[in-house]
Amino acid sequence: MLDIQKTANSEMADAAPAPVDPATIRREDYRPPAWFIPEIELDFQLDLERTVVRSKLDVRRSKSASADEPLVLQGDDITPTAVKVDGAAWNDWKLIEGDLVLPLTGASHIVEIEVELDPSTNTQLMGLYGSNGMLCTQCEAEGFRRITFAPDRPDVLSRYQVRMEADKAQFPVLLCNGDKVAEGDGENGRHWVQWNDPWPKPSYLFALVAGDLVSNNDSFTTRSGKPVELNIWVRDGDLDRTGHAMQALKDSMRWDEETYGREYDLGLFNIVAVSDFNMGAMENKGLNIFNSRYILADPEVATDADFDGIEGVVAHEYFHNWSGNRVTCRDWFQLSLKEGFTVYRDQSFSADMGSAALKRIEDVRILRAAQFPEDAGPLAHPIRPESYQEISNFYTATIYNKGAEVIRMMNTLMGPENFRKGTDLYFDRHDGEAATCEDFVTAMEDGGEIDLKQFRKWYETPGTPRVTAKLSHDPQTGTATVQLSQKIAQNGEKPKSSELVIPLRTALLDPETGAHEGEQLLLLDQTEQSFVLEGHKDHPVLSINRGFSAPIILESNQTAEELAFLSAHDDDPFARFEAVQRLMTGYLTAKVSGTPVDRDIILQAVAKILADKTIDPAFLAELILLPSEAFLGDQMVEVDPQAIHEEREKLRGKIAVQFEKQFRKLYKSCWPGEFSLDAEARAKRKLRNVTLGYLAASFTEDAAEVAFEQYREADNMTAMQGALAVLSHLEAEERAVAFDDFYKRFKGNPLVLDKWFSLQVMSQRSDTLKRVDGLSRHPDFTMSNPNRVRALYGAFTGNQVRFHDPSGKGYRMIADMVIALDKQNPQTAARFIPQLGRWRRYERGRSELMRLALEKIAAQPDLSKDVAEQVHKSLA
Ligand code: BES
Ligand code: ZN
Repeated sequence: MLDIQKTANSEMADAAPAPVDPATIRREDYRPPAWFIPEIELDFQLDLERTVVRSKLDVRRSKSASADEPLVLQGDDITPTAVKVDGAAWNDWKLIEGDLVLPLTGASHIVEIEVELDPSTNTQLMGLYGSNGMLCTQCEAEGFRRITFAPDRPDVLSRYQVRMEADKAQFPVLLCNGDKVAEGDGENGRHWVQWNDPWPKPSYLFALVAGDLVSNNDSFTTRSGKPVELNIWVRDGDLDRTGHAMQALKDSMRWDEETYGREYDLGLFNIVAVSDFNMGAMENKGLNIFNSRYILADPEVATDADFDGIEGVVAHEYFHNWSGNRVTCRDWFQLSLKEGFTVYRDQSFSADMGSAALKRIEDVRILRAAQFPEDAGPLAHPIRPESYQEISNFYTATIYNKGAEVIRMMNTLMGPENFRKGTDLYFDRHDGEAATCEDFVTAMEDGGEIDLKQFRKWYETPGTPRVTAKLSHDPQTGTATVQLSQKIAQNGEKPKSSELVIPLRTALLDPETGAHEGEQLLLLDQTEQSFVLEGHKDHPVLSINRGFSAPIILESNQTAEELAFLSAHDDDPFARFEAVQRLMTGYLTAKVSGTPVDRDIILQAVAKILADKTIDPAFLAELILLPSEAFLGDQMVEVDPQAIHEEREKLRGKIAVQFEKQFRKLYKSCWPGEFSLDAEARAKRKLRNVTLGYLAASFTEDAAEVAFEQYREADNMTAMQGALAVLSHLEAEERAVAFDDFYKRFKGNPLVLDKWFSLQVMSQRSDTLKRVDGLSRHPDFTMSNPNRVRALYGAFTGNQVRFHDPSGKGYRMIADMVIALDKQNPQTAARFIPQLGRWRRYERGRSELMRLALEKIAAQPDLSKDVAEQVHKSLA
């Protein structure tokens, strides 16, 4: 639309201001609110089909607002049934595009509004909705306006007093933010509870829950001695699966005191698990609401990865109490202020709770799988975007994961002590405020005594920087020179040089022993720069971007021999892992593009790794894993998923055959004893699954048998899922037997049934497309539950070789699903567009079919804002 206007006015394009698209919200257009609402009283008469919400707003005109500025209260899909101003009925209101506009003239008023809702028909899962017989809310980012009329923007902070009333038998538990201050029984079997949240908060942090729930009740004493009651609320049968989440909560509370000096600030902390939830979890003040998959776990139904996910998400939402709630965001362009920082905080917490090296490998894997492709595609945006149409589309890997990397780089630049001084000042200076990313950086500068002027470019620059590193050596002077340069590509354009501040942890390793004299932090802050390092008699081996100290793509002139050397000797675990990955990636991308290349060096490197007895089993499992097909595709100019799949399988098969004996031995050595969640037992389970994968890849006759045996005797979900993952690709009859058995065993547990759906559609088998289609008609499949939709279709779009079937059937299937889901749940529907949005990266045939699938979606009448924005941007 924008483009058409531009062409029509091309002669005056320079003179005229850029055409304004009314649907686009711009960061530069921020204006402070005209009205503040220091106090809000809410009264809920709760019922699944007919809930009445009465609100009483204490509205105050801002001193900077003009006297004729009307009061505009956002609403979405609601109508007032009664309005009062200063105690009297008031008819002078209008609904303009859903918003309630009141032409008020005074400096302050009391506005009362009544709204009726039908939560049972709320399929978007935004606002107040029913899930499994309970009532719950989701307000971030703009869901509060679906409950009642209010200035639904994060820079309007209010104190909330909430009265909830409901049928006592149907909803015995009534929860809201803050502290419970009174409760009692009403008439006709009803009861009520009064809640008071002493901390002013923006509307997006409001929450309530009503349901028939039980709680795992515990307590925590803060370091200043204040007692906190902790509850995790679930449905009756799930209580014994809440222990891990509770432990994670207590660990998080302690960690935030010790690491950031942050104490909890209420006497009560409630968490509720719900089955229908668009996201992972939500940090509502004192009342976190969780997708049940991030709460419920015991070894029989949850994998080790699930346990870690729970620990990380519980921590994340808890940490928001300071980074997000006490200090919130001025507007949604500042989203990374709370999300990037909080992801960084939860990553650091998990690193401290387990293995920092494994955690870093995992976090970088996620960054590369989700964020790098986003940065390289049509939906690229800086961690602080300039504009959006639908804010829900901006809860992205860029805001979250690249945002976290930017905070991590600050820590690297400042050192942990100054970093802490910076965050202390930030929390102190902005407590109770709605802040900006700029406020954060300024506080870090002031508190941490550092100049971050140039570093700020990370906030406005989209795209992943490419850093070229060349090492040269002068034996005469004993100097080694690291020559660095940086450039950045945006939206498929040719890379341009850039000047970001890029901290690169670097070591030069002795070419014989791999030893080095300590790491250096090279600060690349110009387009091209050289660093001269003394004292290297022999030509050293370069180990750079250790620990993945900067979120960049490294291009170096390192030979396969040097990478093999690093894969055997580098003392930085991430760098060592990275060396193997680069070695394998280099080989596979060369093979796919038909360039002759040596395979033996990889086999030798793997042999050395397998022979190194100092490597612990979990790290070993990481080191011998091949880069994913998706990652390999990202390294190619033009992606051919079939070719990548075939070359990768060949290499996997070769490694499997060559080292079959070792894999068998390792597999046996990981025989599980008594189940335990400790690091050693988990490491064994991990390595056992990876070696099982190799045994299957070696085409030994007993592969299916071994996997089936592992399935049969497993007493935990990690082993079961590992066995099923291997079986899922095989033609052997054990496959169906195991999957049928699994279904029968777990059909009553939705979270486990999700795994059953996912594992089948992740299969490499050629009948997978048909299976996806069949499963979409399975009685247990429903479009109403986001977890189930993601389990089936989300897992399928990750299956490179089958989603990208050359017929285009996979694309059409996803397009049709998006069209159907959009009518029900636009937010979840829109999350599938980026998969098709990468169409420009694929070889001609697929590219065209992907584009056609997008066109089909774009052609639908009445698309949601969510899907429309993503589709149009992907096609532009
Ligand atoms: N504030 C978000 C929840 C949210 C996300 C609300 C999107 C509205 C729209 C929450 O803190 C969050 O970030 N949750 C993540 C999990 C987290 C561990 C990264 C999620 O839900 O995926
Ligand atoms: Zn968050």
